[in-house]
Amino acid sequence: MLPWSPHPSLLALSLFASSQASILSFDYIIIGGGTSGLVVASRLSEVSHINVAVIEAGDSVFSNPNVTDLNKFTAALGTEIDWQYESTEQKYAGRGKIAYHGGKALGGTSTINGMTYIRAEKAQIDSWGIIGNRGWNWESLLPYYEKSEQFVVPTVAQTEAGASYVPSDHGEKGLLKVGYSYGLLNGSFVDEVEASWSTLGISHNPDSNGGHVRGFTVWQSTLDREANVREDAARAYYYPFQSRPNLHVFLKTTANKIIWKDSTEIIADGVEITSANGTVSMLKAKKEVIVSAGSLRSPAILELSGIGNPGILSKYGIPLKVPLPGVGENLQDQPNTAITLQAQRAFNGTMAYATFGSLADIRINLPSSSSLKLWASTVSAAINSSLPATSLYQLFQIQYALLSRGVPDAETIIGTTMNFGLGPSGVVGSAFWLLMPFSRGSVHIASTDPKLYPDINPNFFLVDFDLEVQIAIAKWTREFWDTDHMRGMVTELSPGFEALPRNATDEEWGDWVKGSFSSNSHPLGTASMMSRELGGVVDSRLKVYGTKNIRVVDASVMPFQVSGHLTSTLYAMAEKAADLIKEDLLNVKL
Ligand SMILES: Cc1cc2nc3c(=O)[nH]c(=O)nc-3n(C[C@H](O)[C@H](O)[C@H](O)COP(=O)(O)OP(=O)(O)OC[C@H]3O[C@@H](n4cnc5c(N)ncnc54)[C@H](O)[C@@H]3O)c2cc1C
Ligand SMILES: *[C@@H]1O[C@H](CO)[C@@H](O)[C@H](O)[C@H]1NC(C)=O
Ligand SMILES: *[C@@H]1O[C@H](CO)[C@@H](O)[C@H](O)[C@H]1NC(C)=O
Ligand SMILES: *[C@@H]1O[C@H](CO)[C@@H](O)[C@H](O)[C@H]1NC(C)=O
Ligand SMILES: *[C@@H]1O[C@H](CO)[C@@H](O)[C@H](O)[C@H]1NC(C)=O
Ligand SMILES: *[C@@H]1O[C@H](CO)[C@@H](O)[C@H](O)[C@H]1NC(C)=O
Ligand SMILES: *[C@@H]1O[C@H](CO)[C@@H](O)[C@H](O)[C@H]1NC(C)=O
Repeated sequence: MLPWSPHPSLLALSLFASSQASILSFDYIIIGGGTSGLVVASRLSEVSHINVAVIEAGDSVFSNPNVTDLNKFTAALGTEIDWQYESTEQKYAGRGKIAYHGGKALGGTSTINGMTYIRAEKAQIDSWGIIGNRGWNWESLLPYYEKSEQFVVPTVAQTEAGASYVPSDHGEKGLLKVGYSYGLLNGSFVDEVEASWSTLGISHNPDSNGGHVRGFTVWQSTLDREANVREDAARAYYYPFQSRPNLHVFLKTTANKIIWKDSTEIIADGVEITSANGTVSMLKAKKEVIVSAGSLRSPAILELSGIGNPGILSKYGIPLKVPLPGVGENLQDQPNTAITLQAQRAFNGTMAYATFGSLADIRINLPSSSSLKLWASTVSAAINSSLPATSLYQLFQIQYALLSRGVPDAETIIGTTMNFGLGPSGVVGSAFWLLMPFSRGSVHIASTDPKLYPDINPNFFLVDFDLEVQIAIAKWTREFWDTDHMRGMVTELSPGFEALPRNATDEEWGDWVKGSFSSNSHPLGTASMMSRELGGVVDSRLKVYGTKNIRVVDASVMPFQVSGHLTSTLYAMAEKAADLIKEDLLNVKL
């Protein structure tokens, strides 16, 4: 026993210096054992001679009831398996900091999310190709949506409760179980909901996962119906394969930064990690480093490693490896506001009811396309020109084209105590959000300490049109509860007609929206897959520009918002990423 305890980092340094030979080395190192990272780890380690390491800051949550229990969505929020991030002050919303949640666990955010499985709209995925990403469109992603999925066909009773699907849109042989829980609310309420939407011109969509989301649907979820537990990325992609000798998971281990090879080219040599006991060491990557820490963290890891905006890196004295001003930019998130209502009776079941509408459905006129130039310059100025107005203008034109073609820009959902964690069982919640905001924000390091959180600034309501759409969705949702089918069944609790009367002005609606919204927990775009000229960070093989062997695979790479929820598309993207990596392994020698 030593008479004194050396500081853990000193100990690490001495171990490091004296035992180079004992440095663990792997073919691929994946930073982040989350939703996307575990898909890549699972698929790469199918090949027995490929060694894969996963670095995960959290622990296993295999038997944590806050994760497994289908009726406990929101229980995990604010506990130790939630990173509990927050945004910077939201000045365009007149608000302070907004809470951001993220799973800190093996399985990542899929262990704490709402389990909704709704894919993107076809035209949105096609837009990834339109901005120049070769090989990315709906047609080429659909096989991966299906590859990932193990759809569980609903029972007759579930079908009567509103479950529906189009067989040709689903895969049944994948690893991820998708379907309906036995706790789905049965009885006639679902028919009343459908009838109420029909009054407003919104028809039933028998399956929102076929590339067209518009309409009312009873959504499918990532769950294991027979086991009655959540299906997260670890349950689907890791635990069944955890005995593979070539798959190594480092739990409670933080990835600090990428370590570079001493070379004129930009080649990762490995990753610096901090173990649970505080020891700092290095894992060596023989082939590639794959960054999958999520859209709120992956850009920070790139910046700490020397990849990013030179102005930001120099502020922290980080040696520049690749100047890439798009790192951390293009952050897009949706504002979520909610109405709660007291129903005449208790609902003992899950309502998985979603409705998607276009701008025409919510009776909003698309402004003239001449607004786009102004929006682009407004956003560019707000983000210190990190993305030039000319790039934003190009991106906005594509987004605008989607809206003008009627791609849904509004989603409104209904849930009960069972799926929203609302408290008394007679309370119903209607949450809604704008799907494709024009506002853009950023995620950047605020320190050189990898344990400290980055600055997250989604710039909610920077573009006025976003607020206009959110207000229209709020009114549309209220209208739904005010049809002959619904009136009399419920009483609005919040905001309530006293706070926001029927004749409320748009200004009053706007104040309510800005004062009460939260993040919809769909942040993406912070290492966008698009050309370097546009401000992209990864190419169409998800490789970071300017580097030989670093990729990003997670929500950071999605260049635009989508009308579904993110995980379905992330599982598909990560499946495709694993194939791209395997393909490149055959074709390229480092
Ligand atoms: C409250 C909430 C509800 C949601 N509801 C839904 C829903 O119903 N349906 C849906 O489809 N989507 C939903 N989402 C969104 C969806 O779950 C996420 O977009 C998705 O899971 C993100 O996947 P990812 O692979 O990008 O990152 P993550 O799954 O977050 O994975 C990142 C992983 O990296 C780890 N990590 C981070 N930094 C480090 C580091 N430095 N070192 C080591 N490890 C690190 C994290 O711990 C985490 O495990 C919800 C999100 C939230 C927060
Ligand atoms: C589950 O969540 C509750 C709070 O919602 C918390 O008190 C409890 O400790 C959590 N359980 C675990 C195992 O983390
Ligand atoms: C409705 O759901 C309840 C609770 O899950 C169940 O006990 C009941 O059998 C269901 N009724 C029908 C007709 O399926
Ligand atoms: C800290 O943990 C790492 C990883 O488990 C281990 O290799 C190392 O020996 C530990 N160091 C100390 C000082 O306990
Ligand atoms: C804005 O960008 C310039 C040029 O890169 C830089 O010098 C300045 O520090 C940046 N300002 C902020 C607030 O980031
Ligand atoms: C509600 O449904 C659950 C099963 O989903 C059942 O265990 C419970 O008894 C039901 N409660 C009431 C009040 O019907
Ligand atoms: C709405 O109606 C109330 C009562 O009828 C009235 O006092 C109020 O001024 C009206 N508000 C607006 C904005 O018209």
